[in-house]
Parts: sequence; C-alpha cells; structure tokens
Amino acid sequence: MNKQFEINNKVVIITGGAGMLGTRYANLVCDLGGIPIIIDIDKDKINKVVKKLKKKNINSFGYSANIQNESEIIKIKKLIIKKYKRIDILINNAALTAKGMSNKGSDFFKALEEYPLDLWEKLIDVNLTGHFICSKIFGKNMIKNRSGIIVNVSSEIGLISPDKRIYKGIKNPYSKGPLNNPPPYSATKAGLIQMSNYLSIKWAKYNVRVNSFCPGGVFDNHDKKFVKRYSNLVPMGRMAFKDEYLGPIAFLISNASYAINGKTLVVDGGKTSW
Ligand SMILES: NC(=O)c1ccc[n+]([C@@H]2O[C@H](COP(=O)([O-])OP(=O)(O)OC[C@H]3O[C@@H](n4cnc5c(N)ncnc54)[C@H](O)[C@@H]3O)[C@@H](O)[C@H]2O)c1
Repeated sequence: MNKQFEINNKVVIITGGAGMLGTRYANLVCDLGGIPIIIDIDKDKINKVVKKLKKKNINSFGYSANIQNESEIIKIKKLIIKKYKRIDILINNAALTAKGMSNKGSDFFKALEEYPLDLWEKLIDVNLTGHFICSKIFGKNMIKNRSGIIVNVSSEIGLISPDKRIYKGIKNPYSKGPLNNPPPYSATKAGLIQMSNYLSIKWAKYNVRVNSFCPGGVFDNHDKKFVKRYSNLVPMGRMAFKDEYLGPIAFLISNASYAINGKTLVVDGGKTSW
C-alpha cells in the first residue's frame, strides 16, 4: 500500500518552492524518494531552502526565475533536461499572495471598483499565465515521455467568494497595512481550476494527469479576531496547520491517485460545503 506513494527518483518541479508551503512540498518530495527542483523568483530564499534539501537528497536543485517569463522557463527546461534527462511532475504553486504582497503597498488589497489595472494584470500574469507557461513548457517533455503529473495549486477562494466581513478592522500579520483576499487573486485561482480541466482532457491520451488542489487558509500568526472569524466559517472550526497539506499533495503527485484526472481536491475543513 505505502509503495503507491513512492516517487523514487522522479524529477519534481515545484514553482514557488521557496515559499511557506512550497518549501514543505519540496521536503515532502525528498521524503517520498523524489528529486525536488525549485523554481522561485526569490534567489536568497532558494539558496537557503536548497542547502537544507541537499542534506536529504543531494540531487535537489533550485533555479531563480520569474514564471511569467517564457524564455527564462525555456532556458530552465533545457538545463533540467541536460542535468536530469526528464521531468516527471510539476506542482504549479507559485503565486503573488497576501503574504508576499503585504509590504508592497496597500493597492493589492483595494476593492474591485478601485483596483489598479496594472496590478490586476500583474496577478493574472503570475498566478495564471505563469502556470500556463510552466504547464506548456514542462508539459511538452511529459507528452514526449508519455508520462506526467501536474498539480495546479488553486484555493478554496477559487471556488467561492471570500467573505470580506472577516477582514474588517484586523491587523495584517505581515505588514502594517490592511489584509484581505483581493479580486484578481480569486479570479486567477478560479482560472487555474478550469485550466486543469482543459488540460486533463487534452493530455490524458499522453498519460499526463492534471488536477487542481484547493487548500483553505493556513494559520500564520494571524490576528486572533481574524482566526476566530475565519474559524467560524469552517465546519471543522479552525484554520489549517502548515503541514496539513502534505498528505493531499503526496496523494496527488503519486500513483495513489492513479485514475484521478481533471478533478479538484478541496482541503478546507468543509468551508466550501456550507
Ligand atoms: N497560505 C495559505 O493560506 C494558502 C491558502 C490557499 C492557497 N494557497 C496557495 O498556496 C500556494 C503557496 O502559498 P504560500 O502560503 O506558500 O505563499 P508564499 O507567498 O509563502 O509563497 C509563494 C512563493 O511564490 C514565489 N513567487 C511569487 N511570484 C513568482 C514568480 N513570478 N515567479 C516565480 N516564483 C514566484 C514567491 O517568491 C514565494 O516564494 C500559493 O499558490 C497560494 O495561493 C495558500
């Protein structure tokens, strides 16, 4: 049974792999026997993460790149193929998040009627187009090998609208500004689900499976008032722990989910069931 979760020597690309959850997915890949390849825009964070990963799997590697830059991703693909010969699994996890954008000014949190067009486009470029680019470039190698798995990391917010009332008057844990789930973030997360559906049908004949993953909010030193309000929206009555998604990701990237294709795994304590 446990063998179903093994991904021995599989080459697993994790975009945003130097972030809070991506780092955990990279460690998970090592624990399951795979080789994590991190792509992240933050070079300093990559170096720190890869140094630790190499203690678990010497072949782990990191590339600094912007996923919205197609020519950078093509270059990286060539380097990966030269070094590892193949690409087995892609976790499209990078995103401009509330955490990453909090200290970049409060425009990120503006209401739709005030939202700056350039910021809307930036989010679409990274959170959606970036994943299209990575799926296109890395997916070609999977098609060639007639084998591959892609997981698009969406969010429960890709399925339902965020309840803006829970953010009213709360402190942002990452900066002095406001905090909420802005309009383009939800739109990109919804778009990823449809991109998974689309690709899963087109690429099934090449033995490439594509699924979406919709996690709920992870507790990260949030304001107590916010935690209480968020938890009230969750039938299980709490936010997620940082390691809570390791099981679902292990399932999606391994043979344990062998016949699951074009589906959305929602892990949100039941928040979207109400
Ligand atoms: N943390 C949560 O509560 C939560 C809930 C639901 C969904 N998610 C999703 O899970 C994923 C990981 O979230 P996280 O909490 O670890 O976020 P995070 O902000 O800690 O990590 C995101 C990573 O993406 C990288 N990144 C940003 N733009 C990039 C670009 N253009 N090119 C390459 N890398 C880029 C960042 O440098 C960062 O390391 C995201 O897709 C997020 O939307 C998170």
